[in-house]
Amino acid sequence: MIAFGLGIASRNSALDIIETFYPLPAVNPDEDFARELSNLCELRFGDSGFRSLDAEGLEVFFAAARDAFQHEQESVAARLRDSERPILLCLSHGQSPPTSAPEAFLKLHLLSHRLARPHEQNLDGIFSVLHNLAWTSRGPVSLQDLPNLLLEARKQGETLSVHSVDKFPKMTDYVVPSGVRLADSARIRLGAYVGEGTTVMHEGFINFNAGTEGQAMIEGRISAGVMVGENSDLGGSSSTMGTLSGGGTEIVSVGRNCLIGANAGIGMSLADGCIVEAGLYLTAGAVVRELDGEGNLVRTCKASELSGLAHRLFRRNSLSGAIECLPRKAHVTLNEELHAHN
Ligand SMILES: CC(C)(COP(=O)(O)OP(=O)(O)OC[C@H]1O[C@@H](n2cnc3c(N)ncnc32)[C@H](O)[C@@H]1OP(=O)(O)O)[C@@H](O)C(=O)NCCC(=O)NCCS
Repeated sequence: MIAFGLGIASRNSALDIIETFYPLPAVNPDEDFARELSNLCELRFGDSGFRSLDAEGLEVFFAAARDAFQHEQESVAARLRDSERPILLCLSHGQSPPTSAPEAFLKLHLLSHRLARPHEQNLDGIFSVLHNLAWTSRGPVSLQDLPNLLLEARKQGETLSVHSVDKFPKMTDYVVPSGVRLADSARIRLGAYVGEGTTVMHEGFINFNAGTEGQAMIEGRISAGVMVGENSDLGGSSSTMGTLSGGGTEIVSVGRNCLIGANAGIGMSLADGCIVEAGLYLTAGAVVRELDGEGNLVRTCKASELSGLAHRLFRRNSLSGAIECLPRKAHVTLNEELHAHN
C-alpha cells in the first residue's frame, strides 16, 4: 500500500515538526502520480518521507494532482493554499516502519479514516518517532515550550488547558468516522479503527491499530492490535489483553456476535458467538474444563486451546469455582434502539 497526504504541520520552538493533521489522506495513487509525488518529495520511488512545500511546491503538487484527484479532494487540498502553518507532503509505504512524526501521523490517520485496517501497515517503532506532547486547548505543544505558553496565556487573562500529555492525541481532533457514537472522545486514540455503527460508551477505550469491524457496543477496553468482530458487545470495564507491556506476545481478537461480560477479560482470542461470564478473566493459560451439551467432561486444557471453538460460554462454575467452557445457550443481541441513531 502506498499512501500520501497533504498536511498542516505543527512545529516546536526549535522548528522540529512535532505533529501533522491530514484533512484528506489517500491510498494507492496510480503509478504515474505516485512517481510525481516521489519526485516532489525528492525521494526515490518506493521510499517513504516528507517535504515541506512552499507556494511553488504546492502549485507543482496541484498540477500533478489535477487528473488524479476527485473534485472533493481538489477543493479540500486547495484550501491549504492560504494556511498560516507549514504545509507538507508525506508519502508512506505500508510495509516500511514510520521514520518520522509526519509519517507516523499519516499512518494513524489512515487507520481512523478506515483507509487501512489494523495490522495492514508496519507500525514498528512508532513510539520512538512520535513526540510526547501536551495536547492543549490551542493544539499540540512541546513540553519544553509549555511553561512559557501557560504563562503567556495567563498574562492575557486566559487559561491554556492541557487535556493530556501523551504521544497519541484523541482521534476526534483529527477524524470523526461516519456512523459512530463516542460518549467520551478522550478515550479513543488517533489510529483507532472504529467500524460503522459502533457505539463506545464512557468506560470504553480504543487504542491505535485496533478497533471494531462494524456494529458493536464497546463499554470495555480494546487494546492495541485487538480487532472486535461485528455485532459484538464488550461489557462495562471488560478488558482485552494487550501486548504493548506486561509480557504477552499473542495478539487477541474477538469474533462476531460475542459478549464479554462486565469486568471480564480475555488473554486469548474468541471465535464467533462466544460469551465470557461477567467478572471472569480468561487468561491464555487458565485451566478450563471443556464440557459437552449434556455437561459431560470432554477434556481439561488451557483456555488458548479453545480459541477456535465457536458458540461457547465460558464461566466459573458457581459451586466448584472451576472455569468451564460449554456450548452456549444464552442469546446475545445488540440493543437495536441503542444503535439506531449512530
Ligand atoms: C454467564 C451468563 C451469560 C449466563 O447467562 P445465562 O445462561 O442466561 O444464565 P442463566 O442465569 O439463565 O442460567 C442458565 C443455567 O446455567 C446455570 N448457570 C449460569 N451461570 C452459572 C455458573 N456461573 N455456574 C454454574 N451454573 C451457572 C444457571 O443456574 C442455569 O441453570 P438451569 O438451566 O439449571 O436453570 C451471565 O451470567 C453473564 O455473565 N452475562 C454477562 C452480562 C453482561 O455482563 N453484560 C454486559 C453489561 S455491561
